[in-house]
Amino acid sequence: MNWHDRYTQQARWTHDLRAYLFDKAGLTHARRVLEVGCGTGAILSTIDSAASLHALDLARAALAEARIHAPRVSLANADALSLPYEDFTFDITFCHFLLLWVRDPLQAVCEMARVTRPHGYVLALAEPDYNARVDKPDSLAPLGRWQADALTRQGADVSFGARLAETFARAGIEIVETGAIRRSENEASLEEREKEWAVIEADLAASVSGEDIRIMKLMDEEAWARGERVLHVPTYFVLGRV
Ligand SMILES: C[S@@+](CC[C@H](N)C(=O)[O-])C[C@H]1O[C@@H](n2cnc3c(N)ncnc32)[C@H](O)[C@@H]1O
Repeated sequence: MNWHDRYTQQARWTHDLRAYLFDKAGLTHARRVLEVGCGTGAILSTIDSAASLHALDLARAALAEARIHAPRVSLANADALSLPYEDFTFDITFCHFLLLWVRDPLQAVCEMARVTRPHGYVLALAEPDYNARVDKPDSLAPLGRWQADALTRQGADVSFGARLAETFARAGIEIVETGAIRRSENEASLEEREKEWAVIEADLAASVSGEDIRIMKLMDEEAWARGERVLHVPTYFVLGRV
């Protein structure tokens, strides 16, 4: 799996939302901005701001790639549960597809709030709820269950998105705006679907037979061709103020 390609694909899903929420959080005037769980730098590389950019990740391999894709960012190998920064350091602290992977997301959000200055912004851009995933036609429902099970085995809390706003409230963060991401129509393009299938095949290789995957892929392609395919994973955001 080429992780940077995957994260770049996910970054496209939130492109418009990021523009809107970063603007609302005052990115233009921000002096210091932090991404927690930056992966390969797919989001950082798109940030157009004069602010001093900082980011961290647990995975050294991801950080090595982030150094290439986001060369002007100050990077740290650290844990979201214990951020290596002083209180009140950042104007904006954000994450993107992170909290579902963190053992204690409330602690991570509390840490994000701690390092953000008073009246600064804490932003979680994309946290899915796979338990509420919709697959149509019904014959494709097993695909959603297989993928959720595979992500659970990899360590994700697949329904965390449903508790995102509640987690911000429990961390004492004032919620400015929350909602679900609207995905654009071009996500149904053949190219996007092929990328999605590469991820599905990698995720399911250890748990579902090649034949079952092949049949499901064929049914998926046929449903798209008939114009009957519905695939919806509710994915939530929260913009909060400290
Ligand atoms: C799905 S990737 C998202 C990467 C990036 N935010 C993006 O959207 O392109 C999740 C990242 O979170 C990192 N991660 C998971 N748990 C973490 C933790 N406790 N502290 C810091 N990073 C963590 C993983 O190493 C991985 O790079």
